[in-house]
Amino acid sequence: MLFDNHNRPINYLRLAVTDRCNLRCFYCMPEEGIHYLPKKELLTYEEIIRLVRLLAEQGVSKIRLTGGEPFVRHDLMNLIRNITALPGIKELHLTTNGILTAPHIPELKKQGLASVNLSLDTLDEERFKMITRRDEVKRVQETYDLLRKHDIPVKINAVVMEGKNTEDILPLIELTKTQPVSVRFIEEMPFNGEGSHYTALTWTYKKIIDHIRIHFPALEKITDPENSTAYHYRIPGYKGSIGIIAAFSRTFCGTCNRIRITAQGELKTCLYDDGVLNIKHLLRSGITDAELMKELLTVFAQRKKDGFEAEQSRKNHQPVHESMSTIGG
Ligand code: GTP
Ligand code: 5AD
Ligand code: SF4
Repeated sequence: MLFDNHNRPINYLRLAVTDRCNLRCFYCMPEEGIHYLPKKELLTYEEIIRLVRLLAEQGVSKIRLTGGEPFVRHDLMNLIRNITALPGIKELHLTTNGILTAPHIPELKKQGLASVNLSLDTLDEERFKMITRRDEVKRVQETYDLLRKHDIPVKINAVVMEGKNTEDILPLIELTKTQPVSVRFIEEMPFNGEGSHYTALTWTYKKIIDHIRIHFPALEKITDPENSTAYHYRIPGYKGSIGIIAAFSRTFCGTCNRIRITAQGELKTCLYDDGVLNIKHLLRSGITDAELMKELLTVFAQRKKDGFEAEQSRKNHQPVHESMSTIGG
């Protein structure tokens, strides 16, 4: 098992397989998009598998594939089949926007995919168009229905944005009445390719929860799974749960068990750092597995204690502003 310098286990790897996306979410990138990486700058599937095998040998057992939109990358199912075949990988998860996902669901089920986190900030067609700058809400809803039909656990991710989708909080919660889904409301972070949209975050964890409580006074706290980023609640009698992710307030760093590989092959030991090791260069330098592991252990032993320290340690001392599409959340 891998541990960091704060005695936190590291057993969860989040892999951004591409920086490309077929949506243009307001909170993630500017309308005109971002400069996408040339293909040769992405880790190849062979490089990814080598890295995952090595980390799995050291106790990393949970993988989440992210992007950009993971299904925009050619032959993603091939990577998925190879990851699930690796000894030590107990859970493979996906975070997707659901546009291209539906045709792959039967095969994902067969591969034993543990769950899907589906980005869906609103159920309203017009607001979906305004937030994502694309007219695709129906396709996301079809994906959601098909995931449920195949009994694949789903969590819905909704970033809460002042003036954009706060009227969607209650309708999204209503989904939990009859469906065993987890609907998570996320504090917006300034990872959008531009920097903060606001002088201060209005829809904090506390404001979201207070808002829900006004309408559902019976809201009750339930136990959070280990290492969860979300604080979980439910409405008595409802089948699903409600999660709040204090992504900007960063209140859960003390139990953080995750590392990330960005689309450009940088290792991040915190979402808020700007890369602590260039894995791609190392993999392409002819390094041995033992040497690579040594490099990894060195950065795990220098991990920042929380997202605030990590942000302060950024090499260019600039506040975070890069698009989430390059990091994967
Ligand atoms: P699981 O716990 O595996 O379900 O993952 P998750 O819910 O954290 O992952 P997902 O990709 O669905 O991300 C949901 C939101 O949480 C996104 O806005 C992420 O950016 C945010 N998030 C995920 N991990 C971290 C983290 O380590 N720190 C912070 N601050 N936010 C995170
Ligand atoms: N702030 C908070 N969450 C974000 N996501 C993307 N950009 C941001 C942001 N700026 C979320 C998406 C997706 C997950 C990977 O990250 O909703 O579900
Ligand atoms: Fe695409 Fe996800 Fe970014 Fe939206 S949040 S533009 S779906 S990568």
